[in-house]
Amino acid sequence: MMLKIITSNPGKVKEYRHCLEGLGIEVTHLRVPYDEVQSSELEEVVKKGMAELKADGISDFIIDDSGLFIDRLNGFPGVWSAYVQKTIGNEGILKLMKDVMERGAVFKCCIGCSIGDKDVIVTGACGGVIIEEERGTEGFGYDPIFSHDGKRSFAEIPPDEKDRISHRGNAVELLLKEISDIVWPCGKP
Ligand code: IMP
Repeated sequence: MMLKIITSNPGKVKEYRHCLEGLGIEVTHLRVPYDEVQSSELEEVVKKGMAELKADGISDFIIDDSGLFIDRLNGFPGVWSAYVQKTIGNEGILKLMKDVMERGAVFKCCIGCSIGDKDVIVTGACGGVIIEEERGTEGFGYDPIFSHDGKRSFAEIPPDEKDRISHRGNAVELLLKEISDIVWPCGKP
């Protein structure tokens, strides 16, 4: 079984390879641009992206739209996470959160998968806090400023652990439940 991961983010490719290849699902990376519509919902972005890619004749693929939703900032940067990361970055988020006591946040990952004639959209989430400073060298994006346990940032935990507990790890687990009959017609290995 082979799935294409369509993204421009090498960090995501690494995580999908890590999660799926051990299960016998080969992951290939495709960089095909698709329109990421402005929407307040990750699911809406994914739904439109899937329709566009399918209309272009692409099959057996995964797309992933993720975001960091900070409680005290009313869910910002949320669906604007990519733009915010490129502009003000982690440093900018830390400035916005300076002296803020309530530091709760949720990472969400919405996966759209088109496999055979089945389309699946699932969303995984992981709650945590925005820490006071950037820490760690693993991962990518907002990982150095997000901690699920209030102790270590996502950039300080080993990739295996991030896969087990992260928004993307949770979303992959939900996805595998939905597509297991196609991927493993004789039962999961
Ligand atoms: P998008 O899903 O590619 O639009 O990503 C939104 C933003 O969130 C980008 O800046 C990503 O780098 C960041 N991001 C997505 N997933 C993660 C993650 O697992 N950890 C940290 N940052 C992430």
